[in-house]
Amino acid sequence: MRRSLVVGNWKMNGTRASTELLAKGIIAGLGSDIGDCAVCVPYVFLAEIGEIIKNSPLALGAQNVADKASGAYTGEVSASMLNEFGCRYALVGHSERRTYYGDTNLSVAERFCQAQTQNIIPILCIGETLDQREQEQTFSVVEEQLDAVIELAGINAFNAAVIAYEPVWAIGTGKTASDEQAQEVHQHIRAYIAGKDQTIADKIQILYGGSAKPDNAKGLFAMPDIDGGLIGGASLDADSFLKIYQSIKQ
Ligand code: 13P
Repeated sequence: MRRSLVVGNWKMNGTRASTELLAKGIIAGLGSDIGDCAVCVPYVFLAEIGEIIKNSPLALGAQNVADKASGAYTGEVSASMLNEFGCRYALVGHSERRTYYGDTNLSVAERFCQAQTQNIIPILCIGETLDQREQEQTFSVVEEQLDAVIELAGINAFNAAVIAYEPVWAIGTGKTASDEQAQEVHQHIRAYIAGKDQTIADKIQILYGGSAKPDNAKGLFAMPDIDGGLIGGASLDADSFLKIYQSIKQ
C-alpha cells in the first residue's frame, strides 16, 4: 500500500513570526501518524523552520531548486544548500514558476535531477491550463511534462520522487477539480508511468493540488489514485491544514 503524503506550499506568504507560529501549530496537532506531512517554506525561513520542526513528524521542503549545481547564478539556491538545511523535499515545476518565471519542461527536469543529486525528493508539479483542458489536451500536456523528466533523469529516478497533479485552473481559484476529474488524470498519470515501469507506477505517490480544503479533501483522498495533497492557501492556517491532513486517515 502507498503511504499518504500531505504537503503545504506556503508560497510567498508570512513573516518570521507568523510562520514560526504556523509551524508550531502544525506540529502540535500532528500525533504519531500513519501518513507523512511536510511544509515547503520560503527559502529565507528554511533555517528557522528547520530548527522548529527538527525531531517532529513534520518534514521540511523548499519551493524550488536551482537547475545548476553551483556557480555564478545570482538569486538561485542550489540543492546542496537545501540539503545543508535539512530539506527532504523540493517542489519543481510549480505552475507559478512555469507561468511567471519561465521555468520550462527542460529546466524543470534539470531541477528534478539537481534535487536528487542531494537526496532531496523532488515533487514534480504538472497540470494543464483551462484552455488546454477545454481543448482536450489534458492528457497530452501531462505526458509531455512527464516525458521531459523521464528523458533526462530516466524512469528509475521516479523511485525517489513524488508527482503532484495541479490543474492550473484550480490553483487559488476556489474551483477544485471534482473527485472524478482529479481521479481520471491521476489514473492516467499512473498508467503512463506503468507503461514505462509497473513497479514504480504502483509505488509512486501522486498528490492532488488546487483549491484543496478541509471540506473537499476527504472525497479527493478517497479516490484510488490520489495519495495525498499539495495544499496552498489552506496550508497557511494550522487548523485547516491539519483537518486536511486528518481527512486522509478517514
Ligand atoms: P491552492 O491550494 O491555494 O489552490 O494552491 C495549490 C497549489 O498551488 C499548491 O502548490
